[in-house]
Amino acid sequence: MTTVPSATTYDAYADFYTALVQAMLDDQHGFWQATRAVFDARLQGRLPGAVVLDVACGEGHLGRHLTQFGPDRVTGTDVSTALLERARGRAEPYGGQLQYLHDDAQTLTCIDTASVDVAVSNLAIMDIPDHARVFAAVRRVLRPGGVFVFSMMHSCFEAPFDEQGQFLMDPDQPERRAAYTIRRYATEGRWFAGKEGMRSRVGAHHRTLSTILCSLLEAGLTLTHLSEPVTVTGDLGGEVPRTLVIEVRA
Ligand SMILES: C[S@@+](CC[C@H](N)C(=O)[O-])C[C@H]1O[C@@H](n2cnc3c(N)ncnc32)[C@H](O)[C@@H]1O
Repeated sequence: MTTVPSATTYDAYADFYTALVQAMLDDQHGFWQATRAVFDARLQGRLPGAVVLDVACGEGHLGRHLTQFGPDRVTGTDVSTALLERARGRAEPYGGQLQYLHDDAQTLTCIDTASVDVAVSNLAIMDIPDHARVFAAVRRVLRPGGVFVFSMMHSCFEAPFDEQGQFLMDPDQPERRAAYTIRRYATEGRWFAGKEGMRSRVGAHHRTLSTILCSLLEAGLTLTHLSEPVTVTGDLGGEVPRTLVIEVRA
């Protein structure tokens, strides 16, 4: 694993990250859209009239997307001032349906206890040092029967990799990913990818699948659904899910 850089918050990379989100969402056949489709399928029936919380919302794309299903309101929270500014800047066309608060996902101090019907979080739990505190905070703010759907980079396949690379390439087609290389699944903790990309900048907190699932149960949440979305691109993404989507209920 590589050395830990000092500047590690999204504030320093807000432009880079905002552009990355747009590029990922523009790829209609990519894993971000495959992941978003799971949120839609699991939640659209529950969203009309719902109070929604988007935990670690970043520049807010998921909350904006979910407004089409008729929630009462969507609150996004994040610790990045720069990303929250971008989220607020994009909220105007939604006429007060969206609001953004600076709040740590590990406490959610701005959110009242038992006030949320639907909590969501997209690809953020790996960015937060104490996942168990996030689950406890979400459990506190959910109403009884409330649902939490979150996506994460898949613990099993997006495990720490290093300068040797994340993929084995096809010897006959050097641009084509043939397989993942999983070298350090059992080593939990913060790691940094050695190459370009967001994970070389901000790192990620790796936890095994059992750690994540046990922490949800310990927070008093009930597991109701798991999804491992794959893409339809006919390459490695069609066989190995990059993300895991977990649904739990209070
Ligand atoms: C990979 S981004 C995902 C953002 C957004 N959910 C999306 O889909 O684009 C991770 C986000 O987690 C936020 N974050 C990191 N630590 C946090 C914390 N303790 N509390 C709230 N947000 C946090 C970052 O600022 C960043 O916006």
